[in-house]
Amino acid sequence: MPKWQWVQLGLGLTIPILLIEHALSTGGGILRVRLVPNYEYILAVFWHFVPIQGWLQVVLLVVTWTHSVFGIHNWLKVKPWYPSWQPHLYGLALLIPTMAIMGYASGGFEVLEKLKNPLWLIQMLKDIHYPGPEFDQQTKQLRDYWIIGYTLLIAAVFAARRVRLYFSARSEGIRVTYPSGRRILIPNGASLLETSRAGGIPHASVCGGRGRCSTCRVLIIKSDDGCLMPPNDVEKKVLEKLKLPPNVRLACQVKPTGNVTCEPLLPPDVTAKEALSPGKYMHGQEITITVMFADLRGFTKLSESKLPFDVVFMLYQYFQSMGSAIEGAGGRIDKFIGDGIMALFGTEGGAENNAQQALTAAREMSLRLELINERLKNDLNEPLHLGIGIHRGSAIVGTMGHGAATQITAIGDTVNTAARLVSITKDFGIQLLVSAAVEAEATADLSGFE
Ligand code: FES
Repeated sequence: MPKWQWVQLGLGLTIPILLIEHALSTGGGILRVRLVPNYEYILAVFWHFVPIQGWLQVVLLVVTWTHSVFGIHNWLKVKPWYPSWQPHLYGLALLIPTMAIMGYASGGFEVLEKLKNPLWLIQMLKDIHYPGPEFDQQTKQLRDYWIIGYTLLIAAVFAARRVRLYFSARSEGIRVTYPSGRRILIPNGASLLETSRAGGIPHASVCGGRGRCSTCRVLIIKSDDGCLMPPNDVEKKVLEKLKLPPNVRLACQVKPTGNVTCEPLLPPDVTAKEALSPGKYMHGQEITITVMFADLRGFTKLSESKLPFDVVFMLYQYFQSMGSAIEGAGGRIDKFIGDGIMALFGTEGGAENNAQQALTAAREMSLRLELINERLKNDLNEPLHLGIGIHRGSAIVGTMGHGAATQITAIGDTVNTAARLVSITKDFGIQLLVSAAVEAEATADLSGFE
């Protein structure tokens, strides 16, 4: 569980302990001895007769308010308008308890003033039907019983949960496997998010598992037949809003009844805003794409004889030209690696013509390289040469990386093969090498080529 959730839980569990004596002497007094408590009586107790109780009321107010503010904050933080309102609401969150405490103090001082008159006290106790000091003794005794009972109850719940987890994980043996190879045994009824938490696997959960933020979403890689219930209404709403495919589920809502292999899709420190903005995080999926690798031949040698400024200038022109050729053909630059380029075609869907798009891009890159060579002919000892390798096939496409270096990319054999093709262009001394899969899909007549 994230720290804030532990704090919220801890504060929530403290409230009954702080509240019980007050409840027993007011509500309890009404039921037990027909007491008619009023504010003056209560303030007299807090400010004069049992001042420690008075201080505990302030602590209770702070604890309860903080607990509520946590809840409200976590409810609202997935709303798009919340960040701009947050500073104002923060001010309000401080102002309300401060004013409450001021009101409490002002009432207390008024009653202290009145208590200077013993007749006022006698009349007030008569008005509320105060039965005598034995009532306070009984209240204290009851308070102790309640606190002991409550503490035992909470401890029993935690202990019972531990015992249940221990035994049911062994007898029912539901296995959840993560891409790292980690396997965690869980009992029936535990959610995938609880599983990650139990195994200490970092797993985003901005809304704390309430099915509102989508940050806990996982890709179900494999699962036993029928072990995953269809999404409930809460989950369905989020999945539909983000148009997530059926193999992506909210870990906080899915409670498998059989073995599952899954992968958390978002980094553990993702914000709700990032998770909900379409396109920012693409769930991993296996799709057919065309992958291109391009390399500038002999550039390393050339750069050794040039000033750093010239090297950067030349590379800038090259990347600009190649980048716009690729994007103009419908591809996406995945990354620049030194003087190399990796580009993907078909990641946005439309798998039909992405092989052709890649070939178009390759032709355009070749033409643009000629222009660069023409422009730089006085600076170059020999023209720049390009090697391009293109392959097509299925690859896992999704958002990967860390922090600012997070981006949509592809991994798999198709990518590795395209990388191999570009290195083979060097062995053959050729500019372009495409696989048979690309040729077939692009329906290009390559018979005139080797
Ligand atoms: S943790 Fe927010 S939707 Fe699952």
